[in-house]
Amino acid sequence: MPRGLLITLEGLDGSGKTTQIERLAVWLKKREFASRGVIVTRQPGGTAIGDRIRALLLDSRSAGLAPMAEMALMFADRAQAIAEVIQPALAAGKIVLCDRFTDSTEAYQGGGRELGSAPVLKLHRLLAANLQPDLTFLLLPSLEASLARARRRNQRENTKSGQDENRFELEQDAFYRRVHEKYREIAAREPARILLIAGDLSLDQIHERIVEAVAERLLTVAKTT
Ligand code: TYD
Repeated sequence: MPRGLLITLEGLDGSGKTTQIERLAVWLKKREFASRGVIVTRQPGGTAIGDRIRALLLDSRSAGLAPMAEMALMFADRAQAIAEVIQPALAAGKIVLCDRFTDSTEAYQGGGRELGSAPVLKLHRLLAANLQPDLTFLLLPSLEASLARARRRNQRENTKSGQDENRFELEQDAFYRRVHEKYREIAAREPARILLIAGDLSLDQIHERIVEAVAERLLTVAKTT
């Protein structure tokens, strides 16, 4: 049986990734090549153990978390997701859509926290079997638009629950500028894997670009298997 397909979505908080992944899943499920199965997952989280790691990572009470510990927890979550969800699904020939993957660790911990790319890539080889997505969509609206959206969302959550939902959204603009820059650097390094969708496009325009690229990739896969 051919190996399945791993498709990841990346971008800054508030870039609309989650909406796009849901729309892509709906689109795929309506098409015959999805008869092999489509699953949607996210990082951190996506497994019962991962959800506990996620809660620890995102809670503002974890403010004292050292950057190295934060990176280690991201990989602990990923190793669990690969073992429990991603690898079995790929082995069964399924299409796996993953909201964030190792590019997030490189951008946020490598760039944002200034740990650099090298330790992230090394841990990826060691703890994530160097698993590479077949296709990655990187949504990078302008930095200003992303920041404004993430803040609005966080404020809404604050009012609703009296608690912030995401420790990362409390970071300063300089942190997000470094994340943004690192994402651009990764996209320039790996143009064959990463489709950069930059600028402030509408949800429909982004969806169109994504499904076009996925359809093309699925056709290539169908021809070669
Ligand atoms: P989430 O609420 O899922 O945000 P989003 O909807 O923007 O994806 O929170 C995930 C947060 O974790 C997000 O701010 C990015 C951060 N993150 C890292 O810092 N490193 C990582 O490796 C991953 C997967 C996420």
